[in-house]
Amino acid sequence: MKPFPVWKHSNNDGEIDMPLSNKIPLIAGNWKMFMTIPEAIDLVNGILSEHLNLQGSEVVVLPPFTALRDVIKLAADTPLQVGAQNLHPEDRGAFTGEVSGPMLRDVGCTYVVVGHSERRQLFGDTNAGVNRKLQAALSQSLLPILCIGETKDEREGNRTLEVIQKQLEECLAGLDSSKVNRVIFAYEPIWAIGTGLTASPEQAQEVHAFIRRIIAENYGNTTAACAIILYGGSVKPDNAFSLLKEKDINGALVGGAALKPDSFVEIIKEAIKAYKEKQ
Ligand code: PGA
Repeated sequence: MKPFPVWKHSNNDGEIDMPLSNKIPLIAGNWKMFMTIPEAIDLVNGILSEHLNLQGSEVVVLPPFTALRDVIKLAADTPLQVGAQNLHPEDRGAFTGEVSGPMLRDVGCTYVVVGHSERRQLFGDTNAGVNRKLQAALSQSLLPILCIGETKDEREGNRTLEVIQKQLEECLAGLDSSKVNRVIFAYEPIWAIGTGLTASPEQAQEVHAFIRRIIAENYGNTTAACAIILYGGSVKPDNAFSLLKEKDINGALVGGAALKPDSFVEIIKEAIKAYKEKQ
């Protein structure tokens, strides 16, 4: 499997090891339940053949379990990283149909998504369950992408920040800052996922800044300053720049637009451009 990157961050409190830097954007493509193995291979070849300067970005694809092995082989000597979309909290056992953290390590994953809203809404994932999955991922040195976000009703009822705070506190329960340093956050308003509706850059920035503030309050300023907070929900080539230009938006978790090499690569390029502008 690929070695995990380590990035040293120094400040007045000393030096901490971070798995990644938020000085470059992280773009992750969540393929959901799409892509047979041949389709997955075509998509990855398409992404890689764009002669993309992946140096200015961290790019991750999240194929379905069945395509992981082939995609990991294809990405082996490239900067492209690969992760899974879910894991079971236990390492092994009689859990028919499930896949564990050690199995994801075994196949060569670096990342894993936990708490995606589709899993919360359709498969009963709760904050407490997501917390267990997060701990399982961290115990295997996988980099978890923790998804949080409000429903349309919660936003219209002015409860967005309250919901986000509760999700953060319950999902991160029991983790200290050395663990939280390894968590990648993804703010995904549920009303924006797969709907074509996107949070405005201002709406997204407000929630991202709030997430960073909660992290600072609970885990310290260094952890908060280094945190990678992605935005997800109908990210497309034409809105990626304005979203990524916001101060606290460090990347994107992309669904539909990650299924075609052109649109995915375009989003990566827009993200790199936006980062250059805000530095
Ligand atoms: P979308 O999905 O980009 O298709 O809205 C995002 C996600 O579910 O992570």
